[in-house]
Amino acid sequence: MTTPRLPFRLPPPPRPLAFALAAAPAAWLIAGIFGIAGADLGPNPVRELTHVTGKTALNLLLITLLVSPLRDLSGIPSWLRLRRMMGLFAAFYAALHFLVYAVLELDLSLADLGRELAKRPFIWVGAAALLALVPLVVTSTDRMMRRLGRRWQTLHRLVYPIAILAVWHYWWQVKADIREPLLYATALALLLGWRVWRGRRRRVTVS
Ligand code: HEM
Repeated sequence: MTTPRLPFRLPPPPRPLAFALAAAPAAWLIAGIFGIAGADLGPNPVRELTHVTGKTALNLLLITLLVSPLRDLSGIPSWLRLRRMMGLFAAFYAALHFLVYAVLELDLSLADLGRELAKRPFIWVGAAALLALVPLVVTSTDRMMRRLGRRWQTLHRLVYPIAILAVWHYWWQVKADIREPLLYATALALLLGWRVWRGRRRRVTVS
């Protein structure tokens, strides 16, 4: 069986451009905090910080998962060079999201954290996603890749359950209009479906 291919050429963006695009939300937040170039975080800056960091982490996580389908569909292996950068940016925004919440919303109060965890269980799910990202960040270097060998790939498959937890965390805290979380869940289902389909196809081709 041959891999389906796009009818047009789709090369990856240059790395500096991908870096600039992934860093842009952080730059916008910094500009908003310091009132640079007319940027404004609106009437509730802490809410805006939580929103932008959470959404960007989720978007970048899904973009990380999109990289290998794009490699397959375009037939251009250099897409894979973007995967680590996107994954690390996703983890960076997720950590920032947590810090904004812990420092600016909770004032680092453990008592408040306890109350929040009891009242808003979706936070447990976000915390699980964030904790599971830690081993992926720690083992993201070339040295760790070489050291872990085949185990590295097995470990980094954790990115799929992490993405499920992240979409779940988002869905759970949305109050009424579920259109956006539904869109994220559909995108994730397609990415997971692709992964399962590719895995099966590879096994059929090998056997
Ligand atoms: C310890 C870890 C985490 C904590 C404590 C946490 C906490 C929160 C809180 C308090 C909100 C705001 C809910 C509201 O509007 O009242 C939120 C929203 C959100 N979080 Fe998290 N989160 C965590 C991890 C994550 C991770 C790992 C991701 C994604 C990779 C994520 C993505 C989001 C998204 C997309 C939203 C919705 C933003 C919006 O539309 O306003 N969170 N989170």
